[in-house]
Amino acid sequence: MSLLIKNARIITAEHDYTADIFIEKEKITTIGVALNISADRTIDAKGKYVIPGGIDVHTHLDMPFGGTTSSDNFETGTRAAAFGGTTSIVDFATQGRGTKMRTALDTWFKKAEGKVTIDYGFHMIITDLPEADLGDMSDMVREGVTSFKLFMAYPNALMVDDATIFRAMRHTASSGSLICMHAENGNVIDLIVQKALAEGKTAPIYHALTRPTTAEAEAVNRTIALSQMAGAPVYIVHLSCNDALEKVVEARELGLPAYAETCPQYLFLSLDDMNKPGFEDAKVVFTPPLREKWNQEKLWGGLKKNSLQVISTDHCPFCFKEQKELGKGDFTKIPNGGPGIEHRMQLIFDGGVVGKKITLNRWVELTSTTPAKIFGMFPRKGTIAPGSDADIVIWDPDKEHIISAKTHHMAVDYSMYEGKKVKGDAEIVISRGEVIVEKGKFSGKPGRGNYVKRNTYGSAWN
Ligand code: URP
Ligand code: ZN
Ligand code: ZN
Repeated sequence: MSLLIKNARIITAEHDYTADIFIEKEKITTIGVALNISADRTIDAKGKYVIPGGIDVHTHLDMPFGGTTSSDNFETGTRAAAFGGTTSIVDFATQGRGTKMRTALDTWFKKAEGKVTIDYGFHMIITDLPEADLGDMSDMVREGVTSFKLFMAYPNALMVDDATIFRAMRHTASSGSLICMHAENGNVIDLIVQKALAEGKTAPIYHALTRPTTAEAEAVNRTIALSQMAGAPVYIVHLSCNDALEKVVEARELGLPAYAETCPQYLFLSLDDMNKPGFEDAKVVFTPPLREKWNQEKLWGGLKKNSLQVISTDHCPFCFKEQKELGKGDFTKIPNGGPGIEHRMQLIFDGGVVGKKITLNRWVELTSTTPAKIFGMFPRKGTIAPGSDADIVIWDPDKEHIISAKTHHMAVDYSMYEGKKVKGDAEIVISRGEVIVEKGKFSGKPGRGNYVKRNTYGSAWN
């Protein structure tokens, strides 16, 4: 099947120009003005933007967490992603304590098999790493799992100590892989949480009020110091506040290879969106929590100046009914996470580009190109160029729509952005040359997504 996209206003991280794109055998083969090539199908993209498919490098599909499992599986989650213009994800496999990473990877491959509708890769969450098991990390790198998430939060569950972090970082320094850090001081937060519970503070808002920004900033600082000693690059996940951002800025000013992502929830929601009656606030209980509103402008500033390089979603949905409700009467039992995989491209286009906080090129860079580069997928993914996978979104910059759980495609019974009006939407979504979303309908077969065996960190710059 070949496809010709005519009159495409092509927006990449670097360029903005009009041309035709010819696609054959899943790849972009030719880009040129007024191409005279016959194709099985021709699409006229006049008046639209044509961008590389979005890449969300932080998702948790079908993930056991907090005594339950995230409500989107690899079929529903990737379909929702596609509706929003995302054509690749990197999800997290979790190593069980005392078990092999290989076992976790096989388990996650099975979760994706026959379900996943767009291309996907995996990071590995390391929960324990004795010296003797360092070879497991090399094994993962050979499998294309070239990044590892470590937690400084969630004591007695996912948290690892500084020695484990340092050991893992030394491995990434030599193997060319990358540590992704959940940076919050879990031990200190745990003490603050215990005191709050003892004082009868059990409502969802106390999840946010017991996790100070300083606990995030301290952990970011420690992460950067440890990575500097190990000689390793580091990537901070879901950075939520200015205190933490300042630590990343300091490191980057010293020339250290420190990177960080933020997520739409920290750019569009704040503590002002909590304090709702009853148990409603549980809908926005995730970690790190929502912050005071003034942090949002600082994060936008960081995105503009490249102190923050990526916008991911940390999509980890739990239904309000029966899942979030597990924490009624005790906020520590609310499963942490929120739904976001579907609306990242829209929210950042509307709030960022239409809102004049970032340029069109920067929108593409933050949501597709840099994630592909940092996580070893560029130039196969993250750009529109001959030889790249034909993952392309035809974006209607004028289409308005109201985000709602009634119309979204995620398998979750609420939206964090219920009633929010956004301008700009994916009109046609193409994954490896196949049109999978068109006219509001999804046509990709479950299981069609390919595993992306990722290169090591930095391969895009070498
Ligand atoms: O609350 C969150 N973020 N849940 C997902 C797990 C994580 O820490 O990323
Ligand atoms: Zn995390
Ligand atoms: Zn996460």
